[in-house]
Amino acid sequence: MAKLLGENKLNTAVFISGRGSNLNSLINFSKKKYCPIKIKLVITNNKEAVGLKFAKKNKIKSLVVKYTTKFKAERKILNITSNNNIKLICLAGFMKILSKNFINNFKGKILNIHPSLLPKYKGLNTHKRALENGERFSGCTVHLVNSVLDSGKIILQKRLRVTEKDSEYSLEKKILKLEHKLYPKAIVKFLSNS
Ligand code: GRF
Repeated sequence: MAKLLGENKLNTAVFISGRGSNLNSLINFSKKKYCPIKIKLVITNNKEAVGLKFAKKNKIKSLVVKYTTKFKAERKILNITSNNNIKLICLAGFMKILSKNFINNFKGKILNIHPSLLPKYKGLNTHKRALENGERFSGCTVHLVNSVLDSGKIILQKRLRVTEKDSEYSLEKKILKLEHKLYPKAIVKFLSNS
């Protein structure tokens, strides 16, 4: 871990598709002296992604990759990550599923944040499903990415109580706030153990 401090921060790419609030929180985290990562690259499949503004504001290189085919898009991403010496990928609301081949290229070096207490509620509409099932707790998870959706090893989770007053909107809002704290912590934990 000590070797990751100072000038030796780990080159990291963040993949987004939309709002980018987790990207923003990771950028803020990366400015801290003790933070073990440097965000060198932001990649998106969506040229309209609002989160691109955070890359721009912080002078971080960003790349919009058109997904004409997954194969071509991932080849482009692999080229740019390799040219930028990227050692860690953080998925933060990236709405494309990475191929087995891509994941193998970055084996054990891709993290994702998911808005549920995995293994519950993999995939989309997590808050809606948690509410429909009358869950008393929900939360978020940072996990390693493997070739099965939302199924890699769990690094860290944070849970909160679901109240009777909660709606999909209020739950999303509360959990997103937790996500912003959890992702940085999970990165530190992950890199300390690897
Ligand atoms: C977050 O809820 C994250 O857990 C999920 O997608 C959402 C992205 O939000 N994977 P943002 O773009 O980081 O604001």
